[in-house]
Amino acid sequence: MCGIVGYVGAQSALDVVLAGLKRLEYRGYDSAGVAVLADGGLATAKKAGKLVNLDKELSARPLPAGGTGIGHTRWATHGGPTDVNAHPHLDGAGRVAVVHNGIIENFAALRAELAERGHELVSETDTEVVAHLLAESFSSCADLAEAMRLVCRRLEGAFTLVAVHADEPDVVVGARRNSPLVVGVGEGEAFLASDVAAFIAHTRAAVELGQDQVVELRRDRITVTGFDGRPADGDVRAYHVDWDASAAEKDGHDYFMLKEIAEQPKAVADTLLGRIDAAGSLRLDEVRISASELREMDKVVIVACGTAFHAGLIAKYAIEHWTRVPCEVELASEFRYRDPILDPRTLVVAISQSGETMDTLMALRHAREQGAKVLAICNTNGSTIPRESDAVLYTHAGPEVAVASTKAFLTQLVACYLVALYLGQVRGTQWGDEIQAVVRDLSRIAGAVERVLHTMQPVRQLARTLAQKDTVLFLGRHVGYPVALEGALKLKELAYMHAEGFAAGELKHGPIALIEEDLPVVVVVPSPRGRSVLHDKIVSNIQEIRARGARTIVIAEEGDEAVAPYADHLIRVPVTPTLLQPLVATVPLQVFACELATARGNEVDQPRNLAKSVTVE
Ligand code: G6P
Repeated sequence: MCGIVGYVGAQSALDVVLAGLKRLEYRGYDSAGVAVLADGGLATAKKAGKLVNLDKELSARPLPAGGTGIGHTRWATHGGPTDVNAHPHLDGAGRVAVVHNGIIENFAALRAELAERGHELVSETDTEVVAHLLAESFSSCADLAEAMRLVCRRLEGAFTLVAVHADEPDVVVGARRNSPLVVGVGEGEAFLASDVAAFIAHTRAAVELGQDQVVELRRDRITVTGFDGRPADGDVRAYHVDWDASAAEKDGHDYFMLKEIAEQPKAVADTLLGRIDAAGSLRLDEVRISASELREMDKVVIVACGTAFHAGLIAKYAIEHWTRVPCEVELASEFRYRDPILDPRTLVVAISQSGETMDTLMALRHAREQGAKVLAICNTNGSTIPRESDAVLYTHAGPEVAVASTKAFLTQLVACYLVALYLGQVRGTQWGDEIQAVVRDLSRIAGAVERVLHTMQPVRQLARTLAQKDTVLFLGRHVGYPVALEGALKLKELAYMHAEGFAAGELKHGPIALIEEDLPVVVVVPSPRGRSVLHDKIVSNIQEIRARGARTIVIAEEGDEAVAPYADHLIRVPVTPTLLQPLVATVPLQVFACELATARGNEVDQPRNLAKSVTVE
């Protein structure tokens, strides 16, 4: 949430920062701004709206060239998305510029204190107080890094700050508490950003800042200390970014979302890679919780938000079925406030694409305080959630740029299945040959996802015909229920339509009152094999809604003829074991939402009001 970039080096800081902001726009896009140190002073430009507005402003009023600069793309918290509230914020004399991600909780007290000392603040943001405090501290110590440390010790809340001062023209200073901040180390140049995507075109050498650290960037030197000023050498993690700049390009697709949908077979295969040995057993050595500890666990609790929460709901079916261990799934934002019962025999699984979602982070901290072990399922190497967990299983979806999650979701499901099977393996609740059978099915699933992708043209056509509708409902049973929830979420996020997901059996207890003539209802139908009772029940549900005029859009497996007569539109998915069906059944719903958003003229990759990585509670 909010994207930050800083640069010091021989290139034009403005060019580097703007290119970086374009890569980070997924983090927030309601205003943007830059500041460049040049000619002994500070030049800034900022504009409400997307980056194109800032580009236009810079064309109309170019900034002088300089090698040190910072930039920001915003998701508003304090103060609406106006030019004045856009970052960077300056001190009264216009010598310090600061950009910020997060919330400074004690800003009202700090603002009042500054007002008493005669400071005049012009914006409604919490950030502007930092610029004024930095200027005051700098005037006594003449060292921006030291000034940042002094100020950070006074701030409450979660924040990433990056600042420059006109009196230190070759320095960029950053600070981090909770929200992410990564350093990029180049030859005679250095970068700071919320995400490596901002500088990956220049360097793949990254250093992840830890909690409560301040970094001073110079062209040839990077110095990291704690907020207390102590060197932090042992507490920073240097790593090589293992994807290249092209991974964050659209690659000929109209939208990142379309590219990411298309990448799903590879993402699924990559997430399985190396985790199954030649004998078909699971090898999750990276999960550093010992087998004996896992055998002791008497409960699994999954915490996550948004799409990741839906992955958790599906994981519950797999975990309880394969391991016979009770599993709860909880929205991370609700978790710690209800005094959950946790102890060292609880395995908490925190699922997060970004690894930075504040609600999930706070839930896992609460769980660890209660003595529970936390396993993170995460897509972002080195992010905060895996750093603070006891163990991590990384998904290998590669960078996901579109705000609406697609490939990360599928890989989260794969990781959840792996965890469930692994638990079954170490606890002996599954026989080796049973695990091997599922593992065989899993290893074929990437091909099934690929097949779904090749049959999406009718789904696109159908979506376009529904562009004028107000409401779409989604129904499912068993693992098809969370799939229905995910289908509805995608439609809300992208098409801004009223969409609800229901358990099909719950329909008769209320939601059926919503059914009216020609209302589109998407139904995820379980396999007629195995648990055929579920299949039969949902066929009855489809008939119930058709009898009341609904237009039924049915997702059913190939060869399921029993449901065909009741489908106004039939979308086929390959035959899979019931528990794995979400991996194929979700894909048409992603395509459906994306196409409806396009038909309604919406911004697919950057839906209104949303941000990809939500670093506030
Ligand atoms: C935001 C995004 C969602 C995402 C959720 C959880 O709300 O818009 O797409 O599912 O955060 O994100 P995470 O990074 O923790 O998976």
